[in-house]
Parts: sequence; C-alpha cells; structure tokens
Amino acid sequence: MAKDFSLMEDSNRSSNPSIHSLSDPARRRVLQGGLAAAVSGLFAPLASLAQTAPAAPMRYSGKLGFVGVSVATTDTVNVPMGYTAEVLYRWGDAVGIAGNLPTYKPDASNTAAEQAAQAGMHHDGIHFFPLDGSKRGLLAMNHEYVDDGLLHTDGMRTWSAEKVAKSQAAHGVSVIEVAQTAQGWQVVRPSRYARRITATTPMRIAGPAAGHAMMRTAADPEGTRVLGTMNNCAHGFTPWGTYLTCEENFINYFATGDNPDAHARRWGARKETPYRWAEFDERFDMTRHPNEFNRFGWVVEIDPMDPTSTPIKRTALGRAAHEGATVTTSKDGRAVVYMGEDARFEYIYKFVSRDRIRPGGAAANRDLLDHGTLYVARFDAGGRGEWIELAAGRGPLTAAAGFATQGDVVIKARQASDLVGATKMDRPEWIAVDPNTAEVYCTLTNNSERGRENRPGVDAANPRADNTFGAIIRWKEDGDTAATRFAWDHFVLAGDPANTAANKQGTIRGDVFGSPDGIWVDSRSIVWIQTDVSTSTLNRGDYARIGNNMMLAADPSTGEIRRFLTGPNGCEITGVITTPDLRTMFVNIQHPGEPGSERSDPDRPTAVSTWPDGARPRSATIVIRKNDGGIIGT
Ligand code: FEO
Ligand code: CA
Ligand code: CA
Ligand code: CA
Repeated sequence: MAKDFSLMEDSNRSSNPSIHSLSDPARRRVLQGGLAAAVSGLFAPLASLAQTAPAAPMRYSGKLGFVGVSVATTDTVNVPMGYTAEVLYRWGDAVGIAGNLPTYKPDASNTAAEQAAQAGMHHDGIHFFPLDGSKRGLLAMNHEYVDDGLLHTDGMRTWSAEKVAKSQAAHGVSVIEVAQTAQGWQVVRPSRYARRITATTPMRIAGPAAGHAMMRTAADPEGTRVLGTMNNCAHGFTPWGTYLTCEENFINYFATGDNPDAHARRWGARKETPYRWAEFDERFDMTRHPNEFNRFGWVVEIDPMDPTSTPIKRTALGRAAHEGATVTTSKDGRAVVYMGEDARFEYIYKFVSRDRIRPGGAAANRDLLDHGTLYVARFDAGGRGEWIELAAGRGPLTAAAGFATQGDVVIKARQASDLVGATKMDRPEWIAVDPNTAEVYCTLTNNSERGRENRPGVDAANPRADNTFGAIIRWKEDGDTAATRFAWDHFVLAGDPANTAANKQGTIRGDVFGSPDGIWVDSRSIVWIQTDVSTSTLNRGDYARIGNNMMLAADPSTGEIRRFLTGPNGCEITGVITTPDLRTMFVNIQHPGEPGSERSDPDRPTAVSTWPDGARPRSATIVIRKNDGGIIGT
C-alpha cells in the first residue's frame, strides 16, 4: 500500500546529464561544509562545521528569543514556554456557509454533501488575507489528500459512488473567515466569504494550454473547462490579493489501464490508484478519457474575496507535480513565480510575467499570469546557476521534438526540461523569498534514490547519495528577480550528527531535523522550516532520535536553527503564516494518526493518535500566540 501512496514519485529516466562529477572540487567543498566558500560573498556566513547541541536559548546572538523545544514523541503539539497553541479549524468543522453548517460526526458518518460544506482532510498550504488588519481576515488553505481509513466509518472495506464523492469533497481548498475575539481566535460562522472548493468545482483553463488538443475531452470538447482540483499541496499568494493552489501528486488519482503511453509513463501514471475514484467516476479512467490527466498538475488561481468567482488553471506557469507557487516581484513590477516539483529527480521552475502588476487588485490583474516566460533551473558547480527558457522553437524544443506550440511545452514541461538539461533535484518542495534580501530558499526534502545504481549520481546542488535527510538550497538572482542567472549555496544540509555515516551529518547549526518541506520567511527575515518525515520512516532508522515532525525557526544572520514546535503522532507539519503584525501564527497539522502504511485501519482509527479531540484524529489549523501578545519567535 505504501508503494501506491508514494509521494516521492520517481519517473524521470531522461538522460540529460547530471552535470557534475564526483571529482567536482566545488562539491567537495560543500561536503566538507565550507559552504560560504563555494559562493562569492553574496550570502551571510554559514556554519563551517557540522555541529549540534540540545535545545537551549540564545546560544547565538540574533533574532530568536524563545527557548527551543526538545524532540518529542508525545501525541501533543509542543511549543516554547510562554507560548500557547490552540485548535482553530479541524477536518469536519463547518466551513461557515450560511444555512449549511453540518455538524461533524465523530464516527465519520457525515455524507458527501455534508463534507462539501465542512473542512476537508489533510490541511496544507495556508495564507491569511487581512480584512481588518491583524484582527480579522480570511484563511485560504489546501486540503491535500485523504486517509480513506478515517474518512469513512468502515474505511475502504466497501466502496461506492458515495464514498468517491465524499473523498472528492474532502479534497481541495477552504476559505474561512477568522477573527480575534475575547475568547481567542474563532472561525466566523456564517460568513459571506465561506467557501469550499473541491475536486468537482467548475474551473476555467487559461493560458497556452487552453483549447490544446491534449486538453480536450468528451465532456469538454473545447478544452477550456474542467471540474475540480486535487492533491493541493503548497500554495502561493499574489500581490493583487489572490490565492494560488497547486496540484501535486495528481497521478495518484488516474488509472492507466494496461498500456500507458510514453507521456503517461514520463509523468509516472500507474494502473492502480490508491484513491479508487476511477471505479465510480469514469473521468479518472485513462482508458476511457486519456486527456483528463493533462488537465491536472497546474497552478490554480482563486479570488478568496469573491465566493462566486471561478477558479482558473494558469497553464502558462507550466504543468508539474506542483508543490507550491511563490510570488515575488521584479524591479520593474512584473510577477515572478517560483515553483518546485516534488518528485525524485524533477525540477525547479520560474515564471516571469510579460506585463507589470497593475494597481486595482484582482480585477485589474485577471490575465497577468497568462502571459510570460517559463524557465527551468540549472545549478552549476561553483555556486552559479542559470534559468533556461522553456519556449516552443527555442533550442531543442522543436516541432519535430514535439514542441510545436507553447501549449505543447507547458503540458509536457517535464519532457521539455529533460531536453534542455535542467538539474534533477532531490524533491523540491516549498520555496520562500526573504522580503528584505530577495534571497530565495527551497527545501529539497530527501531522495534516497540519489546515487543508486542506474539512477543519477550526486552533483553540486544535490551533493549526497542516499539523501534521507534533505537540504535547503538558496539562491540570489543577479541584480533582479527577473534575471536569468543566479548565485546559490546550501543554507543547510539537514542531518543527524549522531549518525555515523558521514553523508548523514549535515551542516545544521542548532537543532537536529530532516526532511524539510514547508518553508516561509517572515517580515523579520526569520525562516520558518517545517518537516515531513514520512510516517514509514518517523522515529526509525536514520530518524530514530529525531521524534515527531516539527517546525523550526532559522536566523540567517547567525545560521542558527532552533526547534519551535513538535507535532502529535503520525502527523506532518505543513503550512505557516502570521498576521501582518507577526503576533498570531497559523500552522497546519496534517494527517495526525497516519500509520506507516499511510491508510488507517477503520477498526482502530485511534491506533496512532487521538489528536486533537482524544478521539478519531483530525488534521487541523492551530493558532499560536505568545502569552504576552508579543511577536512570534522573539
Ligand atoms: Fe505534498 Fe511535496 O508534499
Ligand atoms: Ca509538502
Ligand atoms: Ca507528506
Ligand atoms: Ca513532503
């Protein structure tokens, strides 16, 4: 079962070279920990030796003021002394639609229709859109996937159209109104903004893939309309006030039949799907509707302020197993979007809009993400890198190679990236931009296949074989975020100094962690790092002494990383944002109770965790406050 559920999809057998050999001197420097030396002075000095210490306050001067928390295997959320974490919005809580406020049933007997008006499962990326400064706003958040063992009273023991509908309704996005009251932060119910977007919500397809032959289906002969979004992992938000939700492991929902073509294989599609939607919803059966598959893997733009607005798939940003879409601006006011593709040996992308962002919010920027230039990253030895343009007719992207139009390029972005020699990365997850320095951080969560026989070897940017701990890579563009060249280094190679294997020890200056996934840089330049050690590995093997998944805070001015939070059993920590005043933090606790097999036993739903209710575990958004009302992290 775990194999089918793999979130580490691995289908890149392309022969574009891993550019850097084992003898690469820059890589040796990286392995020796001399990271700053590999880059020419663009970055703050980093740790020169792997080291760690138990959690303790103020070991380094800098901006972190809290007492770090220890590793933990408790079924609780642990935060530093002087902080409080409270549960705000759990799977099954009513989203807040007027006249439609279904009550959560602890035996998981809510219907599909009820689920469509309740919080979905598996909360992930999240953003706060202020309505009244830092006191009231909208939270938009993703519901990445489901645990069918918890979602239905008897799990998957029986299977039906109603269960598929409930699973589809538990995916997607929530928009909720939240406000700080005398009783703390609460969901406002009802709210005119409250909305659920699910795997069946009507959406529009825009950009160069709209209308493409590969996007047309029996239900949509024009190739411009599609139902729903799913496997929404990380996210983004735009300067014009919209939310971006990203479709990650969409392949897990499509059943190929016995003879997938080369395109389906390059995207990792399989005969069996863990979610079993194809059995009752034929659009997920690729033997009947081969193109439906191409209508997923996109970045979807949502206007959270208008609950009647139609979400739009922005195909100019390329198709990928998108982790997130992080937006910044160029000096001349264009949108720059960074995107990681979380799969082994896949790529990092950047999109630069053709037009400048206009004042006037969402209404004034309706088509901004439909026109621009898509790039893929190549990380070279010596701490330099280049963004390679992915444009039809450019370089190897010829009509003869299958790239006659830009629609071909964006639908087959992986194949295009293979041809131009992009760097195959160790599962790029979230990307964050420091608002003060424009330095960009990307988590490379792990890649145990790196260096295995017949798989790509190490390179400068991915310097460790059997990379079970992951890394955070960082770059700074030459002069402007729209530039095509950049300097890079590793902010940290994660690891455990107590592990005797040299390639496991890393360069952490502070508290041990591995498998970084969520990352966000706040307005003080504190880097918040969240971990997603898979539940098949948690507290075992290389992770035996690292405990439950966690969130840490890093101060780039000192390089210190300090543990801020640990989560309940079986969860990952993913999704973090504060109010603009930095005094309230929202964090998502995803899949508490998930067993190593990634699907709970319906007869023992509480076998791993009872968080947060002392009963069937529920993913949830939590609110973290400093008891004195101060800035989070001080
Ligand atoms: Fe959904 Fe790549 O984590
Ligand atoms: Ca993730
Ligand atoms: Ca995960
Ligand atoms: Ca992950």
